[in-house]
Amino acid sequence: MGDLEEILRGFPLKERWVYLDNAATSLKHERVIRAMERALREFGVNVGRGAHPPGEEATREFERARKTVASFLGVDPECLSFTFNTTTSIHAVLCALNLGPGDKVVTTALEHHSNLSPWLKFSELLGFEVEIVGFDPETGTVDMSRLESAIDDRTKVVAVTHESNALGSLQPAEEILDLAEEAGAYVLLDAAQSLGAVDHDFSRYHFVAAPGHKGLLGPHGTGVLYVREDVREELEPRLLGGGSTDRVEGTEVVPSGFPHVFESGTPNLPGVVGLAEGVRILEEVGLRRIERRVRRLTRRVVEGLMDLDGVEILCPEARRVTIVPFIVEGMDHQEVGRELGERGICVRTGTHCATLVFERLGLDGCVRASLAFYNDESEVEEFLRAMEELTRRGSSS
Ligand SMILES: Cc1ncc(COP(=O)(O)O)c(C=O)c1O
Repeated sequence: MGDLEEILRGFPLKERWVYLDNAATSLKHERVIRAMERALREFGVNVGRGAHPPGEEATREFERARKTVASFLGVDPECLSFTFNTTTSIHAVLCALNLGPGDKVVTTALEHHSNLSPWLKFSELLGFEVEIVGFDPETGTVDMSRLESAIDDRTKVVAVTHESNALGSLQPAEEILDLAEEAGAYVLLDAAQSLGAVDHDFSRYHFVAAPGHKGLLGPHGTGVLYVREDVREELEPRLLGGGSTDRVEGTEVVPSGFPHVFESGTPNLPGVVGLAEGVRILEEVGLRRIERRVRRLTRRVVEGLMDLDGVEILCPEARRVTIVPFIVEGMDHQEVGRELGERGICVRTGTHCATLVFERLGLDGCVRASLAFYNDESEVEEFLRAMEELTRRGSSS
């Protein structure tokens, strides 16, 4: 096990801010920054193209990064593609699925726009149907009986979030997988909030779309796409270009093999090298320890907020790991965010790119505190003290 205290000291922005906006992106560790700088200085040329020495080194390092991330996730490197974020991973799957009239995609009202807008917009173009299943406002969990009846023999994909970024509720992903498999449908799991925070077997899902830049500690512009081995031959990837096209014969495109077929165009080499370093940090800390620690911090945030007059936690019965959404009586969520920001505390306010969630709750947004393992008790207490001050002031005015 790595020295946690030393690792915690390596996040430069942690010295200046109490950063509780980890659901948006993670803080970047010195080691990630240095790995990226090394990539740019020592082999910052294109990947998988040049047969010259720096080109070969770039390709070698890119593939080494793939092995590092795949081994952390417990999946075969051949099943893991590097993308630019969760959104591009989802689009890559959608375009490879041959969806058309008569097909159905089942999703939920809990989704981030990234896992909703692509299905809805492409359904207009390709003629498939999208059914959106609601959720329980107390637990923030998808309505499983509605989901079960929505999944029928026309359903090709169930596209569902693992941990809601707006409500923080963990979804019964394995149960959903079982339901989908029984009906012969794929599951695309949006693991944007859970990968790197929740100790879970992701290798069972047909597709897992996730960022490199959140729980995996990588930089902006990195994402991953896991495609289960037995699904690959049923796909026809269409986000094609250099690197993902083997050759063109007349007017026929012959795509490259997996995992490169999902890596069109010049990849984010320094980003991927930085991501691999982020994953090495996670390995040193250990995923079990990460989940235990972040759950403990999150629990303390929930308990502390529940003690304050005028604070309401959304979905109070949610199974949560990293995210606590709340509203404050008599205060606009943006005002709360601004006041906290002035005290050096970073939270997110608004609808968190999940407008359907708030439409269904009848709210115009909320404050979201989201934690990572590198947060600590003193930061949580500072946040709670600031919230106490704000609510006390609010109730006396
Ligand atoms: C649940 C969920 N899905 C998708 C996304 C989109 O991620 P990205 O910005 O990596 O495309 C986010 C980002 O916050 C998210 O929380």
